[in-house]
Amino acid sequence: MAFLADALSRVKPSATIAVSQKARDLKAKGRDVIGLGAGEPDFDTPDNIKKAAIDAINRGETKYTPVAGIPELREAIVKKFKRENNLDYTPAQTIVGTGGKQILFNAFMATMNAGDEVVIPTPYWVSYPEMVSLCGGTPVFVATTQENKFKLKPEDLDRAITPKTKWFVFNSPSNPSGAAYTHEELKALTDVLLKHPHVWILTDDMYEHLTYGDFKFATPVEVEPKLYDRTLTMNGVSKAYAMTGWRIGYAAGPLNLIKAMDMIQGQQTSGACSIAQWAAVEALNGTQDFIPENKKIFEARRDLVVSMLNQAKGIECPSPEGAFYVYPSCKGLIGKTAPSGKVIETDEDFVSELLEAEGVAVVHGSAFGLGPNFRISYATSEALLEEACKRIQRFCAACK
Ligand SMILES: Cc1ncc(COP(=O)(O)O)c(C=O)c1O
Repeated sequence: MAFLADALSRVKPSATIAVSQKARDLKAKGRDVIGLGAGEPDFDTPDNIKKAAIDAINRGETKYTPVAGIPELREAIVKKFKRENNLDYTPAQTIVGTGGKQILFNAFMATMNAGDEVVIPTPYWVSYPEMVSLCGGTPVFVATTQENKFKLKPEDLDRAITPKTKWFVFNSPSNPSGAAYTHEELKALTDVLLKHPHVWILTDDMYEHLTYGDFKFATPVEVEPKLYDRTLTMNGVSKAYAMTGWRIGYAAGPLNLIKAMDMIQGQQTSGACSIAQWAAVEALNGTQDFIPENKKIFEARRDLVVSMLNQAKGIECPSPEGAFYVYPSCKGLIGKTAPSGKVIETDEDFVSELLEAEGVAVVHGSAFGLGPNFRISYATSEALLEEACKRIQRFCAACK
């Protein structure tokens, strides 16, 4: 009898966590490494949010909470969806989890049966296919292209849907590409989904507040209200409020699905951390001044990185609408010889030679299902980004 579960053979460890670890290991050995692998804002959590958590501790809000979240947070989530997305939900249609990650996992856990398919556009956030596989489903990948700014074409979505499709996973702005769909682009996808009433939509709106210029965020049910009864709209405080360590994510959707997710969570972690939930109440109900200030900083960094990368020989970097990632192509370097003498055959080779030669840690595109590309997180200071881009330019120039 095997000790470890068969399910483990269906999952891979996170490539993004592996890159961060490799960068940390090299740093510990004294190497000068710039890590651009992490998917979290470099800002501190705003003071009003920290204070709400401290007040919660002092009030003794330190006990178990209801599984789906404290009523105050569920109410704040209802208000957030109305205020920012014009969506109507009742508190009972919401659920709070330990990060958006748990929300997604529980949604799949609550719905996957053997043979069920989940349509996932590439490049994708690393955890989607692994969660689907762990829960016994089958990920079905649909490629996007750099020419189409990494956005899914409606005809490709249509072709990927089969009678076995249970979910379509939508993520805009996207991790890893930063691509965000306009209202019209999303409408073209929701029109396809209307033709397939058995398909549910899981929209991961985690980067909603990180869009640049005059781009306007849109979410599927806002664009097509007829999808209300088969959409789970997921969001969280991690990225918008610099709260990755607090571990609060949430979602709203049809009552039967929320109840099923509640049941799973009740036998798993129960309610999310009580103190972090009170902090999230303040994040959603309190001042939102932090968001536009951050956006300005991220936008300047995006512009810097895109411009410097496009000056690197062999690199092509589109300018994405949102998130804090760029997803440049390193196709022009494939077949070239790195300073170490190794021929670069894949984006993984590119990334590992870059780390060795110049101490810049980025994540290879094949980890996100689409290459030859790599992902840079620009959630770090302009000074470090400038230095990292200079090193990338030097590395590319040195590849012959
Ligand atoms: C696209 C996307 N969805 C969900 C998450 C999960 O966020 P959290 O669990 O911190 O709420 C992340 C975090 O990296 C992400 O990039």
